[in-house]
Amino acid sequence: MTVPATMHALLQKGDGYSGKQTGISIDTLEPYLEYAEIPVPELKDGQVLVRMAMANINPSDLHFIKGEYGQPRQKGKPAGFEGVGEVVAGSGAYAEKLIGQRVAFTATPDGSGTWADYAVTAAKTCIPVKHGMLDEDAAGHIVNPLTAMAMFDLVRKANTESFVLTAGASQLCKLIIALAKDEGYRPIVVVRRNEMTEPLKALGAAYVLDENDADVVEQFKQISRSEKPRIMLDAVSNQLSSDIFFAMPNRANWVIYGKLDSSPITARELGQFVFMDKVISGFWLTKWFNETSPDEQKRVIGEVQDRFISRKWTTDVSAVIPLAEVMEKLPATLAKRAGKVLLTP
Ligand SMILES: NC(=O)c1ccc[n+]([C@@H]2O[C@H](COP(=O)([O-])OP(=O)(O)OC[C@H]3O[C@@H](n4cnc5c(N)ncnc54)[C@H](OP(=O)(O)O)[C@@H]3O)[C@@H](O)[C@H]2O)c1
Repeated sequence: MTVPATMHALLQKGDGYSGKQTGISIDTLEPYLEYAEIPVPELKDGQVLVRMAMANINPSDLHFIKGEYGQPRQKGKPAGFEGVGEVVAGSGAYAEKLIGQRVAFTATPDGSGTWADYAVTAAKTCIPVKHGMLDEDAAGHIVNPLTAMAMFDLVRKANTESFVLTAGASQLCKLIIALAKDEGYRPIVVVRRNEMTEPLKALGAAYVLDENDADVVEQFKQISRSEKPRIMLDAVSNQLSSDIFFAMPNRANWVIYGKLDSSPITARELGQFVFMDKVISGFWLTKWFNETSPDEQKRVIGEVQDRFISRKWTTDVSAVIPLAEVMEKLPATLAKRAGKVLLTP
């Protein structure tokens, strides 16, 4: 296949970190991105060039383009952490072996982002995708599904049949709720929109709490007395999360894996760390990759693909937007809060 000299991409406008914490809401993309034509990036040893089929948009991408994520922006480089496409060129023996394969991948800092016609990444991070897996699922193969698997393993090890999930209507929580249902666990799910209650119960939530209810903490306390959840997987990390944590039983672990609500919070009962053996910890998939053996990663990746192929897991897609229309359409589409927004060249 002949690779063109130039391509279109959504380029990062900012550099480094912004020093702010404003969350994922975006009214306009103008301060953060520009749609432009640039040369197709060149390969270094060990890298592949992927012709993009579909790219994903995660909250981490939105934190990132605003300069509020755990790695610095690189002005002028395409944005986008995750996607799927076909390898069309490779540098080095292993990279060349991947040519012609459909792969899911995440962008590496020395490569280039997925919100583009072509992306460069490390060959070793590419995951060949089985034939039966849809592009819509493969575009988000890594970040949420592997996090769902890894964090659900924390629940299995926590010696508890119930656990708390915040941001319950997220794609990630839907994956975790489906896993929990299959294995007989009883998730207590917190949402900020009442209309998500029935769909999440149908998926496997044992309880759904609406964070807007004035007595939501009281409701939680009632449930906690019988369910005794020992773990909270928390992407919101706001005052309600803190209040729920301090209402949880002995040995509860508050696992913070996101900060969707940027407001500061108060921890009200620090004595619980002395007398109730409670723990606050963090989860970041990047660390999981560094700490998990290649064989275990391979096993989990196989399970993820099988779950999507068998439709035990699905991706709720809100819209598929061509790159050229992203600047105009993305903010309003994200504001609909109807599922994942995917990008195509
Ligand atoms: N640490 C890690 O390694 C890791 C890995 C994967 C994902 N994550 C995190 O997991 C979270 C979910 O990711 P996703 O891709 O599944 O998200 P998603 O499908 O885009 O959904 C985001 C969800 O967050 C809710 N939300 C947003 N802002 C909120 C706020 N201020 N207060 C309460 N709820 C809020 C939304 O509620 P509505 O539906 O009501 O709009 C929506 O349900 C994100 O924080 C992401 O960064 C972390």
